[in-house]
Amino acid sequence: MKFYIETFGCQMNDRDSLIMTQILEQAGYGQGAGILDADVIVINTCSIRGKAEQKAYSLIGSLRKHKLANPATILIVTGCVAQQEGAAMVSRMGHVDMVLGPQAIYGLIDHLETVKGTGESLILTDQSKKFAIPPFLPDIHHSTPHKRFVTIMQGCNNFCTYCIVPFTRGREVSRSPADIIAEVQHLISLGVKEITLLGQNVNSYGLDQPADSRTSFPQLLREVAAIEGLMRLRFTTSNAKDLSPELMDCFRDLDNLCLHFHLPMQSGSNEILERMNRKYTVADYLVLVDGLRTVAPDISITTDVIVGFPNETDADFMGTMALMEQVRYDSAFSFIYSNRPPALSCDFADDISKEEKSRRLALFQKRQREITVEQHQRFIGREFDLMIEGESKMGHGQWSGRSTHNIIVNFHSGVQYKPGDMVRVVVTEGLMNSLRAELIES
Ligand code: 5AD
Ligand code: SF4
Repeated sequence: MKFYIETFGCQMNDRDSLIMTQILEQAGYGQGAGILDADVIVINTCSIRGKAEQKAYSLIGSLRKHKLANPATILIVTGCVAQQEGAAMVSRMGHVDMVLGPQAIYGLIDHLETVKGTGESLILTDQSKKFAIPPFLPDIHHSTPHKRFVTIMQGCNNFCTYCIVPFTRGREVSRSPADIIAEVQHLISLGVKEITLLGQNVNSYGLDQPADSRTSFPQLLREVAAIEGLMRLRFTTSNAKDLSPELMDCFRDLDNLCLHFHLPMQSGSNEILERMNRKYTVADYLVLVDGLRTVAPDISITTDVIVGFPNETDADFMGTMALMEQVRYDSAFSFIYSNRPPALSCDFADDISKEEKSRRLALFQKRQREITVEQHQRFIGREFDLMIEGESKMGHGQWSGRSTHNIIVNFHSGVQYKPGDMVRVVVTEGLMNSLRAELIES
């Protein structure tokens, strides 16, 4: 029996796909060469923005004929669209056999047994019961061998008004420090060099546990950083509203904690931030940026921005442009606001035209590209330790590595490296998506 998993969305979904791959392989399934070659097809969906959801639906729709011609094929939809749609998915897409929310994937083999040969659809999206993320010891042969993501928590309690995540991933659930540490130790024993701790809102790690026995996120970072053999440690994503001084101190104290902070601003207007329910102001945000740059002057700060939030005025948007100018991000992900029912902002009045929103996005992105290049040029003449990612797309003798700032650096060398090897280079050029450098030491 063969399976095939198509994954959309964030690292949380990548990891869920990895877990399903391992569960299926342990039950004796093999990876199919392509989607039409598989007995079990999993479409792991994302619904963060309208476009992601449309992509998932169009792939599921395109499998209708294949399923009709091959009724024994089991088509499973997982991820955030599955959680959000539940039974509605099957009303719209009658050829889907199973709709599994993120908490239901661990029982995949049992669910396959339940559904096989029945012709009935199985819908498992109830998130009302208490849920704990099961322990997971990954195999190594999947995805990148030298760096891995380790989930520390899932879900979100913040209810930013534009966001679907609290509805798709449920309330915050933290894993135990012991499970997390066991997983990191296991990965290191398999040769992994870099770990990224993953959660929708890592700064609230542990807050769902009783106060007398909880470990805070900064404490967890210290415990993980101390694991022998861990060369690089990263984490994502943080909400500015609860970024603590203790977390900032980690950048001063932990040598293997990488100098990169992804700190979504979303907007540079206090009014919009309030309507987004972000619980910080532009001034609060700037204090955090200053704090981070005080403990770690070289830290790379990146962000997420939404333009065209309902009734965002020109002045609000100018606030976003001004904040970008002031912080000088190394890079930014920017999106046009899209309605994600049942998120609260879907009911907000919005008089701003699509064209105006696109104009604002283009303006933002154009200026950010210029700033990115300028920021990258600040590194010229500096020496970096790079972790090798692999051969660069540019071909012969060109290698790509990542700096502690999470920036791609390309250089030339006749040496044959493995992903995860470390080299020392000096930066010679700052470009839009990368840096160029010369090798000092292999
Ligand atoms: N519309 C546009 N962008 C969104 N994001 C989240 N929800 C929406 C939405 N409804 C963006 C935010 C978030 C990133 C992952 O996606 O900027 O930080
Ligand atoms: Fe997409 Fe958010 Fe779900 Fe990740 S958690 S797959 S970003 S909707």
